[in-house]
Amino acid sequence: MQEKPLVKQLVILASGSGSNAENIITYFEERKTAKVVAVFTNKRTAAVLDRCARLGIPAYSFNKEAFTGSNSLLQVIKGLSPDLIILAGFLWKIPQDFIQAFPKEIINIHPALLPKYGGKGMYGSRVHEAVKENGEEETGITIHHVNENYDEGSIIFQAKTPLTQDDTPDSIAQKVHQLEYEHFPRVIEKLLQRHGN
Ligand code: GAR
Repeated sequence: MQEKPLVKQLVILASGSGSNAENIITYFEERKTAKVVAVFTNKRTAAVLDRCARLGIPAYSFNKEAFTGSNSLLQVIKGLSPDLIILAGFLWKIPQDFIQAFPKEIINIHPALLPKYGGKGMYGSRVHEAVKENGEEETGITIHHVNENYDEGSIIFQAKTPLTQDDTPDSIAQKVHQLEYEHFPRVIEKLLQRHGN
């Protein structure tokens, strides 16, 4: 039987800018307890590809057919034997066969305090606009396991930040990103320790 590598293997899926992906990559480059072995994106022009090129991390784009049709992305990811698959700003719904193949190993970060402001169509700036519109006094981040429904898997971690009336969707996004950068890599590290295999 093939031995599992000592350094934990991470795979990231991202759809856009990829600032969380970069933060996770650099965090584990410093610590060496885990390594991001590949980043995949559903958008050929996503800035995350430029970040990965700069950081020397293998990064690939894929289309809907590879994701939901032929299964080819799943086969590629299985071949990497990841300890965790991290959704960092990834906007497509994860197909059932991925969840069956990696039942506890896919995690997502959501830029609000779930179950509020979750579900289909609730992502990125749309979340912050809704939070502002409702005059919320706080918002935050949720890191959760991924199941077959958008933003409904079991919650692993949440952190909050207070809001004032002066906050705008942009300033809310900045506050939320700060929380993401601070906590997401640490939560990943803890999960990997708990896996302990
Ligand atoms: C992050 O704020 C993440 O929480 C959010 O997209 C942003 C991606 O930023 N994810 C969702 O809205 C998922 N529903 P990044 O590309 O700079 O990491």
